[in-house]
Amino acid sequence: MPIIPSGAIGAKIIGWGTSLPQKVVTNDELSKTMDTSDEWIRERTGIERRHIGGTTASLSIESGRKAIEMSGIDPLSIDALVLSTTTPDRTVPATSATVQHGLSLRCGAFDVNAACSGFVYALITGHGLVAMGMKRILVIGTDTLSRITDWTDRNTAILFADGSGAAVIEASSGPGQLLGWDFDADGSLEDLLYAEIGGTLHMEGKEVFRRAVRIMVESAEKSIKAAGLTTNEIDLVVPHQANLRIIEAACKRLDIPMSRTSVVLNETGNTSSASIPLALFDAVDRGRVKSGDNVLLVGFGAGMTAASAVIKWNQS
Ligand code: COA
Repeated sequence: MPIIPSGAIGAKIIGWGTSLPQKVVTNDELSKTMDTSDEWIRERTGIERRHIGGTTASLSIESGRKAIEMSGIDPLSIDALVLSTTTPDRTVPATSATVQHGLSLRCGAFDVNAACSGFVYALITGHGLVAMGMKRILVIGTDTLSRITDWTDRNTAILFADGSGAAVIEASSGPGQLLGWDFDADGSLEDLLYAEIGGTLHMEGKEVFRRAVRIMVESAEKSIKAAGLTTNEIDLVVPHQANLRIIEAACKRLDIPMSRTSVVLNETGNTSSASIPLALFDAVDRGRVKSGDNVLLVGFGAGMTAASAVIKWNQS
C-alpha cells in the first residue's frame, strides 16, 4: 500500500468536462433486436438507456476542451496528456496523439489501458508526473465500447456504451487533493473479459460480478487506510458504473449507504474509462460535493484490474 511521502508536490482538479454521444439507445430498442427486455435489464443491471456513437478521439476532444475552458488556462501551458482508453481509434499511433493535436496542445501524450479501472490509473499517473515537476496535466477517460460489442450477444450488448470525461489537474502550493491510492491487476483472470484485436468482447458475467465486488472492496479499503481515514469519513463513493447490483454489494461490504454513492449508469451504461469521471462530475455539477469532502473513486475491469483513490475535494 503506497503512502504518499510527506512533502511530495500534490495537485488538484481545476477544471472538468464530459461528453456523451447524442444517439440514445433504450432497453426497449435493444429488445427489438435480441431476446431481452427492459424489465430484465433494469432489474439485473440498473441500466435504462445508453449513448452510442463517436470516436474515442472526438469524444476526448470534446470533454478535454470543456475541461480546459473551465480551468481558464492556456492550452499551451499543459505539460502532458494522459488518455485512458481500451478502445483506441487506431493500433498506432496512440489516440492521445490525435487528441493532443485536436486540442492544439504542445506536450507529451500517451494512452493508458487498464480497462474500466483506467481513469483512476491515469489520474494517479498524472499526480505522479506532478510530483516529478510537471505543473498541469490533462487526464481524460474515454471509451467507445460500442465498436467492440457484438450487438447480437445479449450477455454484453445490454451493458456497454460510449462516453468521455476529462480533468485538468494543476500542481498545488498546499497539500494536494490525493490522500491515498491503490492499483492492482491479476492477469491470470484475463479470459474472464477480453476482446481479440479486431474482435468483440467476451465475458463470463457471473464470475466477473463475483470478483468485481471483492476487488473493489479490497482496493477501496487500501486507499481509505492509506489516506488515514475510515469509511465513515468518506462523504461520497464514485464507483465504476458497471452494474447497480455490484455497486450495492460493494457498498454493503464497505458499510457505506447507497445515499453516499454517485450512480449514472441508468443513463450511461458501462462506459469503461469514462464511467468514473462521468459519475464524479455529475455529482459535482449537481452540488453533491462540498469543498473538503472526502471522495472515494473505485474501479475494476478486465485484466482483472482494480484501482481506487481518495481525493479531498477543494475548489478554492
Ligand atoms: N436478457 C434476458 N435474459 C437474460 C439476459 C438478457 N440480456 N442475459 C441472460 N439472461 C438469462 C440467462 O439465460 C439466465 O436464464 P436461465 O435462468 O433460464 O438460465 C438468466 O437470465 C440469468 O442469467 P445470469 O447470467 O445468471 O444473470 P446475472 O444475474 O448473472 O446477470 C450480468 C448477468 C451480465 C448482468 C451480470 O452477471 C453482470 O453484470 N456481471 C458483471 C459484468 C460486468 O460488470 N462487466 C464489466 C466489467 S468492467
